[in-house]
Amino acid sequence: MAILLEKPSTRTRVSFESAVAALGGHPIVFTGMDLQLSRGEPVEDTGRVLGKYVHGIGARVLRHETLIKLSRSSGVPVLNLLSDAEHPLQALSDLFTMKEHFGRIPKIAFVGDGGDNVLASLMGAVAKLGLELNVASPKELKPSEDVLRKVEEESELTDATVEFFEDPYQAVRGVKVVYTDVWVSMGKESEADRRRSILRPYAVTNDLMSYASSDAVFMHCLPAVRGEEVESSVIDGPRSLVWTQAENKFFGAMAALVFTL
Ligand code: CP
Ligand code: NVA
Repeated sequence: MAILLEKPSTRTRVSFESAVAALGGHPIVFTGMDLQLSRGEPVEDTGRVLGKYVHGIGARVLRHETLIKLSRSSGVPVLNLLSDAEHPLQALSDLFTMKEHFGRIPKIAFVGDGGDNVLASLMGAVAKLGLELNVASPKELKPSEDVLRKVEEESELTDATVEFFEDPYQAVRGVKVVYTDVWVSMGKESEADRRRSILRPYAVTNDLMSYASSDAVFMHCLPAVRGEEVESSVIDGPRSLVWTQAENKFFGAMAALVFTL
């Protein structure tokens, strides 16, 4: 497996690389200046050549379009290890974590950046599986029209319920999973100050958690910024499921590899 990383990664890289090895494969990781891609060789030429040597490609990319180009040119399965638009392996292992914890996948609330890649994949998975999700985000940071259209189309087929709120307290009322992600995703650093100010009311605090179900858990894909999107007392407290979530990325990666390869 070729593993291309255009952005940093701790969990996804190590879980995916370990999963490839655990299944008897050999991961070859490329970062920074490793490939001629970094000197301007076209993505399509890179994909076409890699496809001759490897059985699959995992890639974490700056622009989602790069994954599409790799997929079209390589002729081998391409797994998204995070793009600006989506983080599907995260959604896969997160839903597994919820099922493992509750015995079924309960109603979820996502609180924070409506344009977040982790949220886009979570919404996509919820829509495909006919689940329930509340999304609380400020009006300035809503999901894109494209994402909303796909979620709506899928939900019609599965009876999934994805509802949108501006008030985080309304969104978390009675849910069993409160999920958030960073306010400043990789590549959004120039918008950091604006995002921190708009998203301040969406911090996951103990007070917000008290409006969720009494057995509700806190989830976050990590890395997290304590004191921004989540209070330390929540992420480091008894309701936090974040370490199990990180652990399960290994099993999610194995499942995705077995399914695609
Ligand atoms: N959750 C996640 O994808 O973490 P990394 O950025 O460390 O891979
Ligand atoms: N939304 C975050 C997820 C990191 C795993 C980012 O893209 O930086």
